[in-house]
Order: sequence, then structure tokens, then C-alpha cells
Amino acid sequence: MGTTSKVAPPGPSGWPVIGSALESRNPLTFFLENRREYGDIVYYEFLDESIYQLNHPDDIEWVLVENNQAFTKSHLTKDVLGPIVGEGLFTSDGDSWREQRRRIQPAFHPDQIAVYGDLMVDAIERRLSAWGPGDRIEVNEEMRALTLDIVARALLGVNIESEIEQIGHDLDIIFGRLDSLWYHLLPEGIPTPGNHRFNRALSSLESVVDGIIAERRADPDGDDVVSRLLDPEYTDGEPMNPQQLRDEVMTFLVAGHETTAQALTFTCHLLATHPDVEARLVEELEDKLGGDAPSVAKMRDLTYTGRVIREAMRLYPPVSDVHREPIDTVELRKYDIPQGATISMPPWVVHRDPRWYDDPDAFQPERWTDDFRSSLPRLAYFPFGAGPRRCVGERFALMEATFVLASLYQDYHLDVRPETTFAVEYEVATRPKHPIWMTVTHR
Ligand code: HEM
Repeated sequence: MGTTSKVAPPGPSGWPVIGSALESRNPLTFFLENRREYGDIVYYEFLDESIYQLNHPDDIEWVLVENNQAFTKSHLTKDVLGPIVGEGLFTSDGDSWREQRRRIQPAFHPDQIAVYGDLMVDAIERRLSAWGPGDRIEVNEEMRALTLDIVARALLGVNIESEIEQIGHDLDIIFGRLDSLWYHLLPEGIPTPGNHRFNRALSSLESVVDGIIAERRADPDGDDVVSRLLDPEYTDGEPMNPQQLRDEVMTFLVAGHETTAQALTFTCHLLATHPDVEARLVEELEDKLGGDAPSVAKMRDLTYTGRVIREAMRLYPPVSDVHREPIDTVELRKYDIPQGATISMPPWVVHRDPRWYDDPDAFQPERWTDDFRSSLPRLAYFPFGAGPRRCVGERFALMEATFVLASLYQDYHLDVRPETTFAVEYEVATRPKHPIWMTVTHR
């Protein structure tokens, strides 16, 4: 805690009236330029928000790990995600968060994750078997459909295959809306066409969630997260209140597939544009799996595959910015960060910092030797966050990404089609800005 200092960290002066909102129309470039221009702690204003961008791993560790009890999730995160995931595990704070995490964590224990493995392989094989030689596919759409199917079957214990297209469509509307500048300026209730579409998409998604809960209630003996949350024994004799349960299921539906889908989409694009890496990956898969489906037991042998995923998430961290806000004024280095300010800690920037990574924009899975890993500052790589709020689905996501790559690249090769223009945008998750069209070839 510190006294109010008059000195603010350096940063862009922004645009009058709405702060730096115009510059941040391309936030990923803006974040990188902030570090290059102003250093480790950058201050700017976005609409009426005061933002402190932290670019040094040690400062980020101080916030997320060492001093985590002095911060909550930011009100920006809650404003943007609250209408969708309510007070679920991602957006809640304090005792309510602690209680939820305690109840949910066992569903992500390594032994339990292993149980999800077979369900994952089934879903992957079903999806990939629909690909024929010469097919033109949009990789992001394929990966989103696949990860949604996996999270529904493995984690939520339901089959929502027939609703996948509709859910994808609803989420596109919702994410697009959240990102729009107008969302920040217009109160939610105003009946603009955008708000109307948003509300319709949200109701449609809520009915999917209600359907999932109803299905699990009717057959509550499953091993999935929803059955666990419905089981009073598992929740200390108290049934979870219906709104809380809805928020939780919505959180898993959204957080549990979109990020992994983006990681896989970027990985496929990187592999298609780096044939040497693809060749080495395929060699490892042939050597270690010999045509078999991936399994939990074999995952440990897939060292290079793991490095490919790690390096792809370094360059394209699906969550490109992590936010917190101080409960009270905190002092960081020589600056005071006041209560209610937003602290922005972008993996996107830290992962591309030449102080930690040689040739930081290059895709080099080979760089991830054990020695290199142990030489890095702890928070120089944090695609899953850090500290007590670290991603609960990390193991699930890494196993899923490994299984998808292993199945896909054992059987198929993907070429980027000429109509694909590659660009990245920041829309809640880091996403490709345009469709990623590719052609499928059988190996
Ligand atoms: C590559 C895939 C994924 C990435 C990059 C990712 C990233 C993250 C990050 C950075 C956080 C921390 C946010 C913060 O500190 O503010 C987080 C939290 C969370 N993630 Fe993930 N995630 C992924 C996959 C998943 C999956 C598969 C699930 C569910 C099955 C999931 C569910 C959650 C939840 C519920 C939280 C909130 C945890 C808490 O606050 O206690 N994520 N994720």
C-alpha cells in the first residue's frame, strides 16, 4: 500500500474524450508498441478507464502470484464477460470464487483428466474421418466445432453435435459484440440492432445450457463436471443454486473450447507455413505412435509435439491479455496504482520480448529445451496465467491439443489456400481475423 504519488508511468497520451480507444482498435499492435516505446510499466487511458500495462515477468509474478490477495479480477473483465458467464469460476472473486474452485478442482485432477482421454479420441476420430482428400476446410471453424464437441462430451457429459453450428454462430455474435467500441459506450438495454442480435444469441446459448443441465439431472450418475456439481454429496450436502450452476456450465462451455480451438488453429497455420517443423512432428508421431491413436500413456513420449504446442502458444497466446485490479492502492516500483485501475498483463507482449526470446517472432519449437525453460524468468511464459487463478483446464487443454495434433498429422497434411489472408485480432480470445482456408491431403 502506498501514498498517492503524482508521477504516473510513461505512456501514450491517447485521444481526447475517449482515451486511447482509437489506437486500441488494433490492441495487439498497440500493446507491443507500448512496451517498445515506454518500457516495463506503461500508463494509458481507455474510455474512462486507467490502465497500467505491465511488461516485465517479475512485476507480473508480483501481481498474479506473490501478492495475489491484493487484487481481484478487473471490473472490465466482469463487465465484458459477466453478461455471459455471470458469477462463474472465471469472473467471481473472494470467498465465492474460493468455494467454487474447491468444488470444481477435483474434476480436473490428473486421474480424472485421464478418464476424459478416450472420449476425446472418439470425438477427434469422428470429426477427422469426415475429411476427404482435396476437401477445402476452414480450419478455425473445424477446430471450434471439434473442441466444442469434446468439452460437451468429456466435461459436461452430453452430446450436442446437432447444436454445434448454432452455438458457433451465437458465440460469433456475442464475441463480436463484446469487442465493439459501441458496446462500451451504449448501455446494454438500448434496443439497437446489435443489442437485439446479442440478446437473441445469448438466450439461444442459455437454452443450450439449460438443456445440458436438464439432461444431466435426468441421469445424474455420470463422471462429468455437471453431475458432480449436481451431487449434494460432492457439494457438502448443499445443492448448488440453479443460477450458480448455469453460470458454471456456461463458463465451461465458453472457456473450455474457444481458447483451445484458437491454439489449434494457429498451430495448424504455423505447421503449414513451416514444412520443416511439420516433417519433424510427423517423424515423431510415426516413431512413437506407429499409426495408433494417441493415449495418456504415450503422451509423455511426444516431446516434440509438446514443444510445437508450447511454441505456438508463445506466439499466439489464446488469452492475449490478463487483467486484475487492486482492492486498495498498491505501490509497484516507484508508482502507485490506485484502487479500481485496470492492470493489464499481456502474454502477447511478454512472449515476444527479445530479452527472453532470441528472434522472438520466429516459430522455433526447438528452442524449448529443458535448459532454456529453466533459464527463463518464471512469468516470461504464461499462456495459462499464474498463481491461484491459473487456468483450471490447463491439463485438459494440453492433452486435447496433443491428441488433436497427433491424430491429424498422422493421417493428413494441410496446405494453406491462396484465398487465405492471415491476420490476428483480439476479440476476447486471440483469433484469426479472416477465415483460414486449407486443402486436405491424406498422408
Ligand atoms: C489453450 C487453452 C486455454 C488457455 C490458453 C487458457 C487460458 C486461461 C488463462 C490465461 C486463465 C487465467 C485468467 C486470469 O488469470 O485472469 C484461465 C482461467 C480459466 N480457464 Fe482456461 N485456458 C484454456 C483452456 C481451458 C479449458 C479447456 C477450460 C475448461 C475445461 C478452461 C477453463 C478455465 C477457467 C474455469 C478459468 C478460471 C479459473 C479460476 O479463476 O479459478 N480453460 N484460462
